[in-house]
Amino acid sequence: MTHRIALIPGDGIGIPVTQAAMKVVEASGASVETQSFPWSCDHYLQHGRMMPEDGIETLRGFDAIFLGAVGWPARVPDSVSLHGLLLPIRKAFVQYANIRPHRLLAGVEGPLKTRDFDILCIRENTEGEYSGAGGRVHQGTPDEVAVETSIFTRAGVERILRFGFEQAQARRGKLASVTKSNAQRHSMVFWDEVTDELAAEYPDVAVTRYHIDAMCARMVMAPESLDVVVASNLFGDILTDLGAAIQGGLGFAASANIDPTRRNPSMFEPVHGSAPDIADKGIANPMAAFWSAAMMLDHLSQTDPAARIMAAIEATTAQGIGTHPGRDSTDTITDAVLAHL
Ligand code: IPM
Ligand code: MN
Repeated sequence: MTHRIALIPGDGIGIPVTQAAMKVVEASGASVETQSFPWSCDHYLQHGRMMPEDGIETLRGFDAIFLGAVGWPARVPDSVSLHGLLLPIRKAFVQYANIRPHRLLAGVEGPLKTRDFDILCIRENTEGEYSGAGGRVHQGTPDEVAVETSIFTRAGVERILRFGFEQAQARRGKLASVTKSNAQRHSMVFWDEVTDELAAEYPDVAVTRYHIDAMCARMVMAPESLDVVVASNLFGDILTDLGAAIQGGLGFAASANIDPTRRNPSMFEPVHGSAPDIADKGIANPMAAFWSAAMMLDHLSQTDPAARIMAAIEATTAQGIGTHPGRDSTDTITDAVLAHL
């Protein structure tokens, strides 16, 4: 079956890494048809919107979305660009599970002494600290007040934790649930309670609760002790940049924004941003985009092409190509992966 993929290359290095990833997808033998949408900060500057008014409806017709990167803060504030494109897609398509694998590819040196870790971070992706509930009063006066309310619903917390439990069952049977319930006594205590309730339903999964601060230390000091890590939207955001760091950098960090119910298209994107500082230098590492593309094919049940891409990525890094940030060009890395395919 041929899957229809909507491409949103976005801004900066999002554009070359998306182009490179699609070459790799094609060479993997995957059966896809792509259509590209120029939704970006340029689009905003021309049309006053990051995407057209019916953008979400347009995307709904696709089997999956592949996104490069969004943002160019010198031209459009991040609070405008992200709330006009990336974040509404995650919410509108109920992509409540943001999955980010953290392990070292062959030949990649991370900053830690150990190579022995394989962590799957699962980040709640539609509510929590990113709910957008709040407002500002007395703007621009000395009495100004800003309120940003985190929203945790039972449905939202339960479904992300269930997803985590199921991932743990399919992996090494360990789930770490991350909160800050010693300080945040409403939402985070609630999250802990739901974790405990569900744990009874998954007796084959060993659950440990951590506070976010302790989890940060653990990911550095004892990453081998972790398997599946589930966290709220903001905590997951922060932990996955740390995860990217221990796997050698953002050039390797892949992600999938999944609607597990499959009622809506899921979206796949490297964790890195648009990196305006290196956007025109031709040195963006496309590995995270390749890995994200493999996650996309996996999600679409094109498992053989997905496995071929992962094998080609790792054969490339094992040769020392693409392993050092900024050393090899995007084209050199892409050509090496294509050669392995
Ligand atoms: C990420 C990014 C986004 C997030 C930003 C760009 C809004 O940091 O995907 O991790 O915080 O979700
Ligand atoms: Mn982030």
